[in-house]
Amino acid sequence: MEKPGKIALPKGKLGVLLPGMGAVSTTFMAGVELVRKGKAQPVGSLTQLSTIRLGKRTDARSPLIKKFVPLSDLKDLVFGGWDIFKDNAYQAASKAGVLSEKDLEKVKPFLSGISPMRAAFDREYVKRLDSTHVKKGKNKYDLATQIKDDIENFRKTKRVSRLVTCWCGSTEVFIKPEEVHSTPEKFVEAMKANHPAIAPSMLYAWASVTSGVPFANGAPNLTVDIPAIQQLALEHNVAICGKDFKTGQTMMKTVLAPAFKARMLGLDGWYSTNILGNRDGEVLDDPGSFKTKEESKLGALEYILQPQLYPMLYGKVFHKVRINYYPPRGDNKEGWDNIDIFGWLGYPMQIKVDFLCRDSILAAPIVLDLVLFLDLAQRAGMRGIQEWLSFYFKSPMTAPDLYPEHDLFIQLMKLKNTLRWMMGEDLITHLGQEYYD
Ligand SMILES: NC(=O)c1ccc[n+]([C@@H]2O[C@H](COP(=O)([O-])OP(=O)(O)OC[C@H]3O[C@@H](n4cnc5c(N)ncnc54)[C@H](O)[C@@H]3O)[C@@H](O)[C@H]2O)c1
Repeated sequence: MEKPGKIALPKGKLGVLLPGMGAVSTTFMAGVELVRKGKAQPVGSLTQLSTIRLGKRTDARSPLIKKFVPLSDLKDLVFGGWDIFKDNAYQAASKAGVLSEKDLEKVKPFLSGISPMRAAFDREYVKRLDSTHVKKGKNKYDLATQIKDDIENFRKTKRVSRLVTCWCGSTEVFIKPEEVHSTPEKFVEAMKANHPAIAPSMLYAWASVTSGVPFANGAPNLTVDIPAIQQLALEHNVAICGKDFKTGQTMMKTVLAPAFKARMLGLDGWYSTNILGNRDGEVLDDPGSFKTKEESKLGALEYILQPQLYPMLYGKVFHKVRINYYPPRGDNKEGWDNIDIFGWLGYPMQIKVDFLCRDSILAAPIVLDLVLFLDLAQRAGMRGIQEWLSFYFKSPMTAPDLYPEHDLFIQLMKLKNTLRWMMGEDLITHLGQEYYD
């Protein structure tokens, strides 16, 4: 791929469109506003806190990423979204119960001013939710066209110069790629025919991409992971990425598994279980939505361990993932892992990981980084799948014949090297021979 030419500067306001204004979205928006007011720190966000090394280790050049690449400033972000419930962002955040009342009070007027647009929704795809704030239309194509109108209205009334969409809606039932997803034409026909393989999230993706708006997919839904939308992204010069934010348990998995493989330690089994009590947990209690999440969570180990290359070490791994809805915990998930490994001469050992995490606290900075990086990619003329953003996803999207890279630190290297490449700096290979010449 050709190196991007001059990257357009982030002039004017950047609109952030969020289908799904639940726990993650509201924690993200409230957090950005708290940071803008100087009342909190953007912990967990690379775009705000991380530096990037340039040149040799002896050069002492490590600017902040946000000083190195032309990112939009937080003050220029303007928010909007859709939800199947009418609650404004303050009410939704209060119900989600992630942030304290004290923190929410500080941003109450700001959050109260963000009300969701009516959603495109169908209970067939998220069985545990009963909607009260949805669009009516004669078919799915009609609904998708209404979303396009929403996007244009938002663009005009908020006077934004650019937009990014990040799906923060619920996990839908498991859908496999089908013929109707294969081309943009078949996709439109299928929307008009109300084909069951066209899920609501795909309507938002189609509307965004055909409106020239980049799209990130935070859920494990198929959404933009289909040829029709990918082709449209190329035709409309739009950047897309997905899928499923990599936050708690899978983040730990993609740190630990590469360590075992790096040291050629074997693995017999990995049992992962989760308890969580938020709306996401309730949705995932439905077997159809769980299946979508399960597929996403199971993939990482297989790709990292490469059992086909190391059958003796990884040929018989028993990998199980469970998610249990447990209301008392709310958004404070507990992800518990039992890992059975073996070492020298096959002697067994065990590792236990108990991650008492806060789901949306981990996800919010990911939404911020994805929004800012997708906008950057868009201004740099990078279109289609943005594999360099794999760092943020449980099931990274790739070109059809490529396997995804799951190792968190390879993903980080890929991300930082892409930024260096975009800005015409040398890539860092970690060879290091030059220091000994
Ligand atoms: N928090 C994390 O750590 C994490 C990690 C990976 C993925 N995710 C995914 O991110 C998504 C959001 O998570 P959350 O905790 O905010 O869930 P949530 O249930 O609090 O919010 C999702 C919102 O989406 C709305 N919604 C559902 N279908 C919709 C539609 N068709 N159009 C518009 N709105 C719709 C729901 O009403 C709800 O308010 C989920 O799919 C979740 O699986 C979250």
